[in-house]
Amino acid sequence: MTGPESEGSQLRRAVCPGSFDPITNGHLDIIARASRLYDEVYVAVMINKSKKGLFEVEERIDLIRGETADFGNVRVEAFHGLLVDFCKQREIPAIVKGLRAVSDFDYELQMAQMNNGLSGVETLFVPTNPTYSFLSSSLVKEVAAWGGDVSHLVPPAVLAALGERLRKA
Ligand code: PNS
Repeated sequence: MTGPESEGSQLRRAVCPGSFDPITNGHLDIIARASRLYDEVYVAVMINKSKKGLFEVEERIDLIRGETADFGNVRVEAFHGLLVDFCKQREIPAIVKGLRAVSDFDYELQMAQMNNGLSGVETLFVPTNPTYSFLSSSLVKEVAAWGGDVSHLVPPAVLAALGERLRKA
């Protein structure tokens, strides 16, 4: 097949899924690295109706879009339901995940094997930059809530959003 359709289907796509409540420098490092390896990277922000986050999903998406606009090949979308369905609908064959430490491995392996069994989608693990091996959105929120300095862990726009949200809380 020739023409635009065949070119489209040859795009190498991957997805970086997560809650991103909010996005941290650790997430951004993984997304940046995925964007250098793939033609198109989707950042899939999970909608979890049973768990209220600090930020609404639309706010999380705006923050991620602001931080990834310069990459040029990153799209940010919300999703609910199974990640494999998100992948199927967009012809995404690969999930890219950061692995921070051995403690991440058990659950990530289970999810990778389940997702592969459900639809054949592959999961690629990227070792987290050691600078961020202790970093999580939950810890950032906790430290920021108690007035700790997280300016080296999140981008400036996220820091500002955190400050604003926590002042209101
Ligand atoms: O940032 P998080 O909260 O660690 O991300 C977890 C996420 C969104 C990647 C994971 O919970 C997920 O993929 N959820 C979608 C629902 C799904 O597909 N569940 C089956 C996983 S095997």
